[in-house]
Amino acid sequence: MFVKPLKNFDRTLETAPDKSITHRAVMFNAFARGTAVVTNALLGEDCLSTIACMRALGADISVDGSTVRVTGAPAFRDAALYAGNSGTTTRLLAGLLAGMGVTASIDGDASLRSRPMRRVTEPLTAMGADITSTDGKAPLYIKPASLRGIDYKMPVASAQVKSAILLAGLHASGVTRVTEPVRSRDHTELMLRAMGADVRADGLTVSVRAGDLVSADVEVPGDASSAAFLLGAAAVVKGGRVTVKRVGLNPTRTGAFEVLRRMGADITVDSRSDGVEPYGDITLSQAPLSPFEITAEEVPSLIDELPLLAAVACYAEGTSVIGGAAELKVKESDRIATTAEALRALGGDVTPTDDGMIIRGRGGLKGGGKVNARLDHRIAMTAAVAALGSELGCEIEGAETAAVSYPGFWEIIC
Ligand code: S3P
Repeated sequence: MFVKPLKNFDRTLETAPDKSITHRAVMFNAFARGTAVVTNALLGEDCLSTIACMRALGADISVDGSTVRVTGAPAFRDAALYAGNSGTTTRLLAGLLAGMGVTASIDGDASLRSRPMRRVTEPLTAMGADITSTDGKAPLYIKPASLRGIDYKMPVASAQVKSAILLAGLHASGVTRVTEPVRSRDHTELMLRAMGADVRADGLTVSVRAGDLVSADVEVPGDASSAAFLLGAAAVVKGGRVTVKRVGLNPTRTGAFEVLRRMGADITVDSRSDGVEPYGDITLSQAPLSPFEITAEEVPSLIDELPLLAAVACYAEGTSVIGGAAELKVKESDRIATTAEALRALGGDVTPTDDGMIIRGRGGLKGGGKVNARLDHRIAMTAAVAALGSELGCEIEGAETAAVSYPGFWEIIC
């Protein structure tokens, strides 16, 4: 795929539906009592993996356009599950299945098989789960076991790990408590509570008690992480302007918007909060950009947007620094290495560090190189945004991986 530079970018549009919320809406309703309708669901490859897994476990799921109807299974059946590229499917299911009395395996593609799974198998084992990994990676193997609540201090801030433990806690005796070093996205807590679970949050600690869920309809907002690519495009194209409508504005997800604002982009937000998750319209108009500094405290709220922010930093004048983000190394690719590789191919000056990167912005990029997306949707889209404001554009190999989170992305920007 060749991405040509854009002369202008002036759009009002909706973005792809939220991936994290779609996963949860399908997965949680698949074992709840009743039938739920999930509207504006993301049918990207990752969420299709979750749908396929929940069907294999016995839930009745039908898809009509972007509406997904889910009838919970009274009990799950044994299954060999394939989660494709999706870490969220794998880790959340590991926690959910641990106490559900099934024998199951969870496997995925080459990228998924390279990602760390001890972060879920260790706490689940401490709860009494019978779960084994393959040298700390997928495939995972789960057998029936009785679980007991634990009080777990997470070494890294991760919504996937937190969610896995809370889901296991729904089938454990006593109270299950999990404490994070920094607050990560709280979609699991909000949705479980809306479905009747006894979930309580107190600072960085979340606790849950065993209980059944009652199905709940979910209207999925736009994905803040996908919207960030559209805002990024408007930020790097001269005279760029974009309004993204109905974007999820959960504050645990909007760090990238704050950073773009700090950089000098002109951002306005019109927010509403009439449901479980806040959402609204966000507009960005291009303006001269200053460099940024991002530290550990802020990282969970923009973890998936860091490659994109690094691309935008190439369009600022001066040195931007990302620190406290070692988690980037264990995403769909090693995003410290792959972001640096992609932006350098376009002429960017990016130095990887142990826990982030240093970007020396020169007010723009020349472009002209070739980027390999390395099986990572966000690297493909980062390279695309970097190319849109450049002089020469760039060739992206493996561009189709964008469909993992953003089907339709290429039609918008090409
Ligand atoms: C996600 C949590 C984050 C994020 C991922 C989706 C989720 O991962 O990077 O894209 O839906 O819970 P970690 O929990 O590993 O930080």
